[in-house]
Amino acid sequence: MVADRQPWWRTAVIYQIYPRSFADSGGDGVGDLEGIRRRLDHLSWLGVDAIWLSPFYRSPMADFGYDISDYTDVDPVFGTLADFDDLLAGVHRRGIKLIVDWVPNHTSDQHPWFVESARSLDNAKRDWYVWRDPAPDGGPPNNWRSAFPAVGSAWTFDKTTAQYYLHSFTPHQPDLNWDNPEVEAAMHDVLRFWLDRGVDGFRIDVIYKIAKDPELRDNEPGLQHDEDWPTIHDRLRRIRAVIEKYDDRMIVGEVYLLDLKKLVEYINTGDELHLAHNFVFFHLPWQAAAYRASVQEFTELAEVSAWPAWFLENHDHSRVATRYAAEPGSGQRRARVAAMLICSLRGTPFLYYGQELGLPDAEIPADRVVDVDGRDPERAPMPWRPPAQAGPGAGFTTAEPWLPVVADAGFLCVESQQHDPGSTLAFVRRLIHLRSREPTLQSGAQRLVGAAPDVFCFERQLDQRFLVVLNFSSRRVPVVLADDARGPAVLELSTRPEREHGPVDLTDLVLEPDEGMILRRQTLAEHVIRGGAGRRTDSTIWSAGQDVCWSCLSEPIRACVLAARTASASVSMS
Ligand code: GLC
Repeated sequence: MVADRQPWWRTAVIYQIYPRSFADSGGDGVGDLEGIRRRLDHLSWLGVDAIWLSPFYRSPMADFGYDISDYTDVDPVFGTLADFDDLLAGVHRRGIKLIVDWVPNHTSDQHPWFVESARSLDNAKRDWYVWRDPAPDGGPPNNWRSAFPAVGSAWTFDKTTAQYYLHSFTPHQPDLNWDNPEVEAAMHDVLRFWLDRGVDGFRIDVIYKIAKDPELRDNEPGLQHDEDWPTIHDRLRRIRAVIEKYDDRMIVGEVYLLDLKKLVEYINTGDELHLAHNFVFFHLPWQAAAYRASVQEFTELAEVSAWPAWFLENHDHSRVATRYAAEPGSGQRRARVAAMLICSLRGTPFLYYGQELGLPDAEIPADRVVDVDGRDPERAPMPWRPPAQAGPGAGFTTAEPWLPVVADAGFLCVESQQHDPGSTLAFVRRLIHLRSREPTLQSGAQRLVGAAPDVFCFERQLDQRFLVVLNFSSRRVPVVLADDARGPAVLELSTRPEREHGPVDLTDLVLEPDEGMILRRQTLAEHVIRGGAGRRTDSTIWSAGQDVCWSCLSEPIRACVLAARTASASVSMS
């Protein structure tokens, strides 16, 4: 079967863990590696194939781990290297892969490289970072801005050497100078360190930022000089060459470029990234037409060999249940539709911890805000148990959690949802399991299908045919399928637990508000044998659960029925 030859990262469902927020084993209110290890049963039960772990390296935590002071050690708040090894072994024992974050664009200002670099104009590490004289008016060397609006200029003046240094994020995250080959070599060594330890790949932080205009010219409308410079592609090829020395590893890049043409350049040649996170898709308005057009555009631009990656949540952005909520209740419903969307499109889905619960953003009181860029609400701790029983830490911690848990943790927590077959958790688990037992949903070809304006509909085909229909509106919508998409079908999964599984009449399909469905298209033979909704078409008659008159069937249909092994039971040869 084709799916058997796929590399793991094409068929996998990948689950992102933000280590501060998943599970605290140490009782200090902050999640850690051992906490994650103890919760691996949840991930096995859920059925995910791989974990992406956000940074757990030594860090002063100015950007909660994305400011790294030692790339090859674990921060004490998260544990030790031995804890990491135990976690990796536990993950692998369960047949799950583990990828880790690699942050090549910047270090912490406490990293020994930067400490040395900042010491004098002529030290050996000076050129490892981007230093420049002030502009003639004494201001920053150019107009580049930090990605965090609250920070302002991307330059900070350093009194010791009377020069500015560049930081694309906070001043505590100085940008490395990737034009210096020593920097590139040192960062490749970091990759090798973790590859040798056994990780299965990397999520590469702000990869498009490691190539900038070496002349540091001002950004202009329509042309950014501070990212995605043409040198990026050779740099990526050299990174890929490091990865290729190891078996079966994968790199997925954070390519925050809101232009699909640029995005596909990172995956189209086959020797750069394996996968690229697609922020165009992420930023779409919640409208069927927008998703249809964007998936279509991506498909046209991407080489057949390039593989898509889909995500709608991560640690930097408001969660789906909050972002797309239109009216009370619709956030939860849309969270299910979003999960169905990314898990059934052709490509690799990335789920963010808590997405399986339909978690909304948490409300963070002003005195608990800790992030410079307003991202605390989507980083609230995973609620494992009802606070009424487990206290304010909701089973995440026995201490005061570093951020408050969501207000509805009582019924949204894992324990409550696990006991409810109609819960979002139960739904997401069924979705993941359906995908993982169906090669068609993992690797099948994809065709967009016309339905209704509010409905995004597509078909997947390999050894089976699946029709996915997603209602993006909070109204009931009749689905009007193109003729070639009609035919007998069986409902495999709906986002609405009350829907009954079984045969579905595609000529009379009505989706409930915010409902998504995965339908298995039946071959005629299957339909005849298993029984479907009684219907007459051109030259064939079939009926629900009743015998079929053999002489009524045309020759090709008879052949089709005969080919089905169990035909004899339900077809009378009279
Ligand atoms: C990426 C990370 C984000 C971090 C930034 C700087 O965008 O996802 O959390 O703040 O890079 O490293």
